[in-house]
Amino acid sequence: MKRQPTEEVRRVTTKAVAAFKEKGRAIACLTAYDFLTAKLLDQAGVDIILVGDSLGMVFQGHETTLPVTLDEMIYHAKAVVRGVERAMVIVDMPFMSYQADAQEGFRNAGRIMKETGAGGVKVEGGREVTEMIRLTTGSGIPVMGHIGLMPQSIHRYGGYQPRGATKEEARRILADARALEEAGVFAIVLEKIPAALAARVTASVKVPTIGIGAGPRCDGQILVVSDMLGLYEEFRPRFVRRYAALADTIRTAVETYVKNVREGTFPSKQESY
Ligand code: KIV
Repeated sequence: MKRQPTEEVRRVTTKAVAAFKEKGRAIACLTAYDFLTAKLLDQAGVDIILVGDSLGMVFQGHETTLPVTLDEMIYHAKAVVRGVERAMVIVDMPFMSYQADAQEGFRNAGRIMKETGAGGVKVEGGREVTEMIRLTTGSGIPVMGHIGLMPQSIHRYGGYQPRGATKEEARRILADARALEEAGVFAIVLEKIPAALAARVTASVKVPTIGIGAGPRCDGQILVVSDMLGLYEEFRPRFVRRYAALADTIRTAVETYVKNVREGTFPSKQESY
């Protein structure tokens, strides 16, 4: 699809996001977990900043996203919101904050909105979460869906391999996307599914799709910020393009600092009072 530049918006809202899809203007999204990073992303023109529960892995050092709590998500979301002027901030609902009971999920989504000032929440799942999504969007809280590879269900599948490779799985993903749209989501993340399937989903729903490892024919793209900046070195999926090598930059800078302190060249006269 040929991308057209459009007039800019002062604040990204669900309405603006819908208009981006209509106009064929790609939606650029990244994750952030802290004030400083969120501020830089916002200044650089990112449309949607996701306070992803990926912070469990890239910020807290867990092996999966499962241990992250609602209180922790709220803590990080507050910091991110303080750094942002233009982008829409969406907050991931962590594992077991919405799966057991739709009413509880709705209440937790309300807590996130009330305590953080974010613009909406994201939940993983298809038809199994539509009751919660209906309740939540019905009360005016924007919800982003997330299907394909769902890291909160990692133990059900036993790994991070792509989803939607069989006809049956592809049919389920398409049906889930339609069910999410019908329940009222304003956008759907498609994670690690074949590019052709992502293109089919994108063509069959009116709401924007945001791809991660889902090929170029989604309405927008998202990456985990620590992956694309080359900070997280534990593993590197094929869909991650590294735009910087910050881990190397930081290591080199800190090695130089350590050396300067040990040899007594820091601080200098000019850096002293
Ligand atoms: O938690 C997260 O960062 C996410 C993105 C990868 C979409 O869900």
